[in-house]
Amino acid sequence: MRENVRLKLAIQKSGRLADDCRDLLEQCGIKFTKSKDQLFCQAQNFPLDLFFVRDDDIPAFVASSVCQIGIVGRNVLSEEMISSPNQKLKSVKEIMALGFGKCRLSLAVPHSFAYEGVCSLEGKTIATSYEGLLSEFLKQNNVNAEIVDMRGAVEIAPRVGMADAICDLVSTGSTLAVNGLKEVEVIFRSEASLIRNENISSKLVEILDRLLLRIKGVQQAGASKYIMLHAPAAALDDIRKVIPGSDSPTVLALQGRNDKVAIHAVCNEGIFWETMEDLRSRGATDILVVPIEKMLN
Ligand code: PRP
Ligand code: ZN
Repeated sequence: MRENVRLKLAIQKSGRLADDCRDLLEQCGIKFTKSKDQLFCQAQNFPLDLFFVRDDDIPAFVASSVCQIGIVGRNVLSEEMISSPNQKLKSVKEIMALGFGKCRLSLAVPHSFAYEGVCSLEGKTIATSYEGLLSEFLKQNNVNAEIVDMRGAVEIAPRVGMADAICDLVSTGSTLAVNGLKEVEVIFRSEASLIRNENISSKLVEILDRLLLRIKGVQQAGASKYIMLHAPAAALDDIRKVIPGSDSPTVLALQGRNDKVAIHAVCNEGIFWETMEDLRSRGATDILVVPIEKMLN
């Protein structure tokens, strides 16, 4: 009988990372169907089980080995590490930054607040859901302020007189704008991160490595482009120098043409209009840049 060893992954049920997490798994070729209220599901074509939970609970799920891995914002992980008494959290390690869910934890004050630096917060009240990260910041800056712990809707605190300032996540900045607040200090930068429990059986590590390889492939492909162009044979060296992030492009003969060759290359960085113009000014024609869907080195 075949052993049924499956890796368990905790991801956010709904919220800022949920859609991107599912997209990433999909890009990794992992198929699963989740109905709306389902908290658990099995991938159909990969030994992975998914647990859909609240983001604050993800570090604890991984710490207690209910799941071996999780995807969580670094803001949530760091806050839990600082403020939770759960000793098991020490067994949780970040293994990969995932590049999505970028946001910052910032201090913001009403426009009428004459802010002149962190010392302006001395003796003030600050509303936040990130008591741990905020109190570390205040301590580092020798500021004494009172923290008002709120679970959500932090941005309304100044308007209703609950606090003088807030410390909350900002991504586009529109929440601050509609609430008449200005961002004055970034205290922490965050993005989605893949976390794991230190203690995983070797069978599960094998599955994890396979998953990591696929995620890396998706990340690399996202940043890479495939470029094809025609170049005068005489300008070959000159043109090769301009192709970004590619050491050894493929050079192909063009049938019936001795004066021209075709160059194909994988570029490990984006290709901008400026580069294409530069290539053209060196004699390149028929320049084609196409996205790469998957890549395995
Ligand atoms: C965060 C934060 C702000 C908003 C900022 O809330 O608390 O409300 O996002 O984003 P913006 O700069 O793009 O406007 P989140 O959506 O995570 O929900 P929550 O406050 O209910 O936890
Ligand atoms: Zn919010």
